[in-house]
Amino acid sequence: MAVVAKYCPEIEVTVVDINRERIDAWNSEELTNLPIYEPGLKELIEKIRNKNLFFSVDVEEAIRSADMVFISVNTPTKTSGLGAGYASDLKWVEASARKVAEFSVGHTIVVEKSTVPVRTAELISNVLLSQEEKNKINKEKRTFSVLSSPEFLAEGTAIKDLENPDRVLVGGEDKMAISCLTEIYKKWIPEEKILLTNLWSSELSKLTANAFLAQRISSINSISALCEATGAQINEVSLAIGSDKRIGRNFLKAGPGFGGSCFQKDILNLVYLCRFYGLSKVADYWENVINLNNWQRKRIADLIVEKFFGTVTDKKIVILGFAFKANTNDFRESSAYYISKELLENGAKLVIHDPKVSYKEINLALGDFTYNCDNKKRFSCMDNLSKAFDNADAIVILTEWDNYKKLDWEKISSLMRHPAWVFDTRSILNESDIKKFGIKLWSVGDGLNY
Ligand code: UGA
Repeated sequence: MAVVAKYCPEIEVTVVDINRERIDAWNSEELTNLPIYEPGLKELIEKIRNKNLFFSVDVEEAIRSADMVFISVNTPTKTSGLGAGYASDLKWVEASARKVAEFSVGHTIVVEKSTVPVRTAELISNVLLSQEEKNKINKEKRTFSVLSSPEFLAEGTAIKDLENPDRVLVGGEDKMAISCLTEIYKKWIPEEKILLTNLWSSELSKLTANAFLAQRISSINSISALCEATGAQINEVSLAIGSDKRIGRNFLKAGPGFGGSCFQKDILNLVYLCRFYGLSKVADYWENVINLNNWQRKRIADLIVEKFFGTVTDKKIVILGFAFKANTNDFRESSAYYISKELLENGAKLVIHDPKVSYKEINLALGDFTYNCDNKKRFSCMDNLSKAFDNADAIVILTEWDNYKKLDWEKISSLMRHPAWVFDTRSILNESDIKKFGIKLWSVGDGLNY
């Protein structure tokens, strides 16, 4: 919405949320504690906030004065009831649609921005149509159009992705509504990149795009294990296969498994949809992308334990990076979280560092593991890296933050307890920088290294 406000100064954009704390943070004077860390976002908000971009908790007033409403609430995987563990929970989408139905004035275009299962627009339409029926009876002139325009930005590169997208999708039937939304996008996106589809194609394209991207990561991670077994080198294999234009170079980096709030949730959703439509083989096919991802995380945690001859009890292990990727403070579904949990379950003592993830949230997420049976702390979060490495037995790099690429390995080696290990799950280190200081190095997919 900040990017829309930037390119459309004549449009007033109001971001509303029922969570006052969040809205207060977006409105905070200093801009130091914005709820989301995203390169370039702070600077953008600084320029346009309270000019044509507003943050408010007055949901009703914002709906009343809006010509267009973007429903951008989260749609997490259901944890109970029908479809638990697979289907998306649409209660916030429905609640938002009900609010729009209740408070809108005149004609309102409702744009589904949240990632949703196919045919969710139907749910929104049903809520809005039943309001239209009531309006007819009450002789009120309130009408609605529903469009789907899913978002394809990735965290960490959000502004760049929004400013220069490969495409945007607008799905729907109402020509007037479609033209209103495309006029907004056309302010900065070439028309040929704006794809018009029907509602269901638009919704399904979003899930499918994420499933295909995630599938590439599971594919390359599966080959990383084969590289380690055979002596091949995953980065060489990635380059060799990615140079074929039909495969392409992007999204072929082996790692500890994909994380984030999108891939797993969207694939589970796709799996649920396929099962619903009786396509069990298709469902199994996509579910295996997730199975392989879980396997990669577990395999890495297990091999760390194995390198210590089967036990890491009371070993001090430094975790570098907790976010699901670099340049974000988001650690939802991050492999760092899962691998840390696995190491804690094996009795290791962890020191966790991340430049952007809040330590309060890490403490909450790993809360169950705070103390061992002797009431001793089992993990701590630390900003001071030189203290973190003191007497450490191992370092595990789990997020590819730039500052982890420039560490002083000579100094670190002198601080660590030997034999000392570094596990580079993102393959960002140079073997020659590490090994000369007597540290043992394991890199994902590197069959020559150990
Ligand atoms: C993903 C998609 O890339 C976006 O197009 C989509 O809009 C977004 O989900 C969404 O549905 O909202 P995001 O999850 O923010 O974006 O981040 P990605 O860059 O896709 O990374 C996902 C995970 O895959 C990260 O854990 C990352 O480290 C991992 N990854 C990515 C790899 O392990 N290797 C790669 O080559 C690329």
